[in-house]
Amino acid sequence: MNLQTLLLERFKAALAKIGAPKDSPTPLGRSTRAEFGEYQFNGAMALAKLMKQKPRDIAEKIVEAVALDDVAQKLEIAGPGFINIHLKPEWMAQQLVEAKNDPRLGIAQQPAKTIVVDYSSPNLAKEMHVGHLRSTIIGDAVVKALEFMGHKVIRQNHMGDWGTQFGMLLAHLNDKLAANEVAETALSDLEDFYREAKVRFDNEDGFADRAREYVVKLQGGDSQCLTLWEQFIDVSIKHSEDVYNKLNVSLSRDDIMGESAYNADLHATLQALKDQGLAVEDQGAQVVFIDELADKEGNPAVYIVQKSGGGFLYSTTDQAAIRYRCQTLKADRTLIFTDARQALHFKQTEIVARKAGFISAEQSYEHCPFGMMLGTDGKPFKTRSGDTVKLADLLDEAVERAEKVMAERISDFSPEERKAIARKIGISAVKYADLSKNRTTDYIFNWDSMLSFEGNTAPYLQYAYSRANNIFKNAGVDANSLNATIHIDSAQEKTLAIKLLQYVEALEQVTAEATPHVLCSYLFELASHFMSFYEACPILKDGITAEQRDSRLMLVALTAATLKSGLELLGIDTMARM
Ligand code: ARG
Repeated sequence: MNLQTLLLERFKAALAKIGAPKDSPTPLGRSTRAEFGEYQFNGAMALAKLMKQKPRDIAEKIVEAVALDDVAQKLEIAGPGFINIHLKPEWMAQQLVEAKNDPRLGIAQQPAKTIVVDYSSPNLAKEMHVGHLRSTIIGDAVVKALEFMGHKVIRQNHMGDWGTQFGMLLAHLNDKLAANEVAETALSDLEDFYREAKVRFDNEDGFADRAREYVVKLQGGDSQCLTLWEQFIDVSIKHSEDVYNKLNVSLSRDDIMGESAYNADLHATLQALKDQGLAVEDQGAQVVFIDELADKEGNPAVYIVQKSGGGFLYSTTDQAAIRYRCQTLKADRTLIFTDARQALHFKQTEIVARKAGFISAEQSYEHCPFGMMLGTDGKPFKTRSGDTVKLADLLDEAVERAEKVMAERISDFSPEERKAIARKIGISAVKYADLSKNRTTDYIFNWDSMLSFEGNTAPYLQYAYSRANNIFKNAGVDANSLNATIHIDSAQEKTLAIKLLQYVEALEQVTAEATPHVLCSYLFELASHFMSFYEACPILKDGITAEQRDSRLMLVALTAATLKSGLELLGIDTMARM
């Protein structure tokens, strides 16, 4: 049950009762301080203006009219007309017991929507680099949250497997084959091979033109090109799969719907744009002029869909992808995770696709941009020699560093256990550090802070979970079979209780806005409240009655279950002991 929604509905009913105009604003949020109760309704001031009455009079009328006897202990008018809502501890306790005894933690599924999520989407022929870390893990966390909330999610790994870079690789490879050099070596180290080809592309006379010819041949279906291309793709996909396994993300081969998959539809897509008078010829190319995005002088933005040589582009593929997703897959929502630099491309793409009728008015197209990963110097994250960091190397380093951290901690783990734990901590630390930052801003990648057991980090949350688990071990009680009444007596119990009831609010925000950091903040606050509760409210001490003990154990059990659920959605492993 979503507390905020429940309260909102009751207030809406009350407003109708007192004759407030329809669509009056109903601002209802969490109280900022415990003495103001748990939630606050702040609509009286705006309503007073609308209804030409005094804010406090309106507030009184609302308090009179609102039916909250079952839920609230008291409603209190403060300041100019704020209404503070103090919930009934017994009612909260009852909700918590129900959540504890429900595998879904009391969270109802939302009406199911079909949601296409385009994420990870690396450019093949190169190994995945850190730029694709964000897309991969943020996308995966959002996918898991959407599925938990009951939606039908269709993963789409829109791999860049069809662009100009392949022309370059094919030209280089064919030269090697002609010179009788072995092709396997080329494929075993794609990264070096790519670099060699790029050097030739940038420096060698005529090479770039040949590369472009190869692109046209490939896109035209030339069989020799296609065979070689398939080999490149295969090696490259295997690299990505290694990374996905290390990262423990839910993408599989079946989710790959790369750019090449749309090749056959590009002519039809272009034709549809032409038929509607959207795509027109301009200097030999086919372009759509977008007036909505005109510059200061009034020149429309130019969106190219076919180059003068006949080649198609990233944008053409995205138009075809929209047709497939919106018309064939019938997506209610499409979410695309890329770095913020592509924002303009997606804005243009959406405008064109809507005009063309590829997306209907009810369907959403949501580009979810993210900021860059920066080094501690505040510049784009690079290796010491200035190269882009390979994702696989970064993850290996994370595990090594976590092993060092683990070695410094006193524990009775065997070396193998220690290694296994370090692996989970290391990978989780990298993922969590990224997920916990506001998606849209750049963030500084810092090994020391992400591996710390203090602060908003994976190790802190993993530790909180194993600590909660340990309490049950010490009590000799099975958390699953425990069922008892909850009593909310102390301030710490109350703070923890309300936080536990707000899990669904966090999830609804994450799924609506595609912002996993909201879930991270929620879990961090939950863990912090849990630690304070645990310090203030003894469980296994002398003088604690059985009733009190079981009530507190119920809170611990629900905290552990909520931490586990939330971390699982974020793709972060939990451990019973660490
Ligand atoms: N391959 C692109 C990149 O690495 C991301 C693709 C995103 N999806 C899309 N439909 N354009 O930047």
